[in-house]
Amino acid sequence: MVNDTIRVQRSHRSIRAFTDEPVADDIIDVLMDVVAQAPTSSFYQQRTVIRVADPSVREAIRQASGQPYVGGTRGELFIFVVDLYRNAQIRAEAGLDNAVLESSALFLQGIEDTLIAAQNLVVAAESLKLGTVYLGSIGGDLRLVIEALKLPERTFPLLGVLVGHPDQNPTLKPRLPQEFTVATDSYPRFENLHTALADYDEVVRQYYDLRDASRPVDSFTRQIEAKPGLGRAEQEAIREVLTEQRLALY
Ligand SMILES: Cc1cc2nc3c(=O)[nH]c(=O)nc-3n(C[C@H](O)[C@H](O)[C@H](O)COP(=O)(O)O)c2cc1C
Repeated sequence: MVNDTIRVQRSHRSIRAFTDEPVADDIIDVLMDVVAQAPTSSFYQQRTVIRVADPSVREAIRQASGQPYVGGTRGELFIFVVDLYRNAQIRAEAGLDNAVLESSALFLQGIEDTLIAAQNLVVAAESLKLGTVYLGSIGGDLRLVIEALKLPERTFPLLGVLVGHPDQNPTLKPRLPQEFTVATDSYPRFENLHTALADYDEVVRQYYDLRDASRPVDSFTRQIEAKPGLGRAEQEAIREVLTEQRLALY
């Protein structure tokens, strides 16, 4: 059972190099439509997407991300923002207290809404033969992003997405075999994951990452041993920023 949508989803790979052909305005309109129509928890619609058009704003986002391909003029950059501010304003205008919006549960709902909207954009863009890459790296300097986009309290810049005409053609990056990631009725446990994943580790070692095409990548288990905690976004003071933004206070 394969159709065009599934073919697009199965052939996903991130694109980090774009031609200088702009993304046409009517395409951007369509992408904003699919973002707007994404499912939303409790119909709260706690997300906002900001298109970055001003070069100085884009430069600030590049700085926050620390990734060179975020800068420049190639591709369109969108920032997906968890947004509890709009609903807080509605409630404030009605004279209501907004402490209920400061729960972790509501923030989590906002994250869910925001991610789903972003993935709607990614699938639609890829179906139009555009390339995309998510940018969690904008979390490398959250306060810089908040300032650059003039984000009010009760908002949080969750992810960037770059969209453009691909200027590279990477091979598919092999995912974990589904026996590890898909289960029925209960969690799938393995006595020793290094042993169970030996074949997959070898497959990953054979994959050449275009970000460093000169050498094969580390095995999956090695990456998991070595990488977590090293990225700037993984070291950011998230709790402090959330407190400043009056999100997830309890
Ligand atoms: C939430 C999220 C954040 C990501 N952040 C970045 C990023 O900051 N920079 C980047 O180059 N790729 C980023 N990626 C892309 C991943 O590196 C990529 O999806 C993963 O390595 C699998 O490769 P593939 O998408 O080509 O299959 C991100 C992906 C996700 C889902």
